Amino acid sequence: GVSSLIRVSPSMLKENNGRKGKDAWSSYQGKVYNISPYLPFHPGGEGELKRAAGKDGGKLFMEVHPWVNWDNMLGECLVGIMVAEDKAPA
Ligand code: HEM
Repeated sequence: GVSSLIRVSPSMLKENNGRKGKDAWSSYQGKVYNISPYLPFHPGGEGELKRAAGKDGGKLFMEVHPWVNWDNMLGECLVGIMVAEDKAPA
C-alpha cells in the first residue's frame, strides 16, 4: 500500500538493475516500480522491458506505446518515488 512506499535516489535506482540477484526497478514519471514480476508477462518481451531496468523508462516507453496505462497495470509493483540523491535514506 501507499504507506509502505520508499524514497528512491538515482543511485538506488541504478543499483536495482536486475543483476547480481537484485530485482529490476524502473521509474516512470517519478514513480518507481519493481518490474521483475511483470517481465514474463510483457507483450513486447522480457528483453525490451529489461532495457529500462535500473533507469527511467519513460522515454523508451513513450516511443513504443504511449497509449499503454502503466500506472494501472503496475499498481501492485509500485515500490516508491524518486527523490534527489541526498533526500533518500542512506
Ligand atoms: C508491447 C506494457 C515497458 C517495448 C507492450 C504492450 C503492453 C506493454 C501492454 C502491448 C501493447 C499493445 O499491443 O497495444 C508495458 C509496460 C511497461 C512497458 C506496463 C512498463 C513497465 C516497455 C519498454 C519498452 C517496451 C521500456 C522498450 C524498451 C515494447 C514493445 C512492444 C510492447 C517493443 C511490442 C509492440 C508490438 O510489436 O506490438 N508493452 N511495456 N515496453 N512493449 Fe511494452
